[in-house]
Amino acid sequence: MEIIIQATPEAATSVAARIVARLLREKPNAVLGLATGSTPLLLYRALIDMKLDWRRVTTFNLDEYIGLPQDHPQSYHSFMWENLFRHINIPKENVNIPDGNASDIPGCCAAYEQRIRDAGGIDLQILGIGTDGHIGFNEPTSSLASRTRIKTLTPQTRKDNARFFGSEADVPGHVITMGIGTIMEARQNLMLAFGNNKARAIAEAVEGPITTINPASILQMHPDAKVCLDAEAAAQLKRAEYYRWVYDNKPDWQHL
Ligand code: PGA
Repeated sequence: MEIIIQATPEAATSVAARIVARLLREKPNAVLGLATGSTPLLLYRALIDMKLDWRRVTTFNLDEYIGLPQDHPQSYHSFMWENLFRHINIPKENVNIPDGNASDIPGCCAAYEQRIRDAGGIDLQILGIGTDGHIGFNEPTSSLASRTRIKTLTPQTRKDNARFFGSEADVPGHVITMGIGTIMEARQNLMLAFGNNKARAIAEAVEGPITTINPASILQMHPDAKVCLDAEAAAQLKRAEYYRWVYDNKPDWQHL
């Protein structure tokens, strides 16, 4: 894992935005895995401002709530159109988000996996991390080999997401999420985390044992995983000074 620590969420986001922009310039038909939540909002704003060409880009979102109408303001369909897609030139048919209202959810999950394969696999997956260490909605104890499927949210995640819904009771209990096995097949993973409420989950994921109890810890097994952090999210990392030194002393040829 490459741990990139910057002073602020804005600075960490600008590193992430450069990584995404470089991919889109080098590979105009790139396949991007996208995330929702508060964390990637700055990234999407930065990417919009960069005026990149998205005409041949294909996207796959990590997850969606089950049972929320697509046009519900808190559905991840609404989130993505509001915060990214309507501001860029991506064709609608290139956008893939799990269908939380499918009549056959297992069939829809299998079809999602097949669409990822048909697209040639995901080049770069953007990830947030839950305060419980989840990636996508793969909650603690998720199989590290899991594929796209239904998951039940933990009380912690429903509490964390209540801020979007008004109350915890309004947060749907079930979701469709790409599996950890699906995420691990992305050629690059780029995880972002900001704020001190993420510090423990990040310390466990980066420096703890690989365990289903912190699903993000599986990224230790990924050959190309980067983690972009602000100072607060990095606060519990024991080797933070080393990660900073590595990043600050990268030879030019290794830099972005
Ligand atoms: P957040 O969510 O970006 O809203 O903190 C992250 C996540 O749950 O993956």
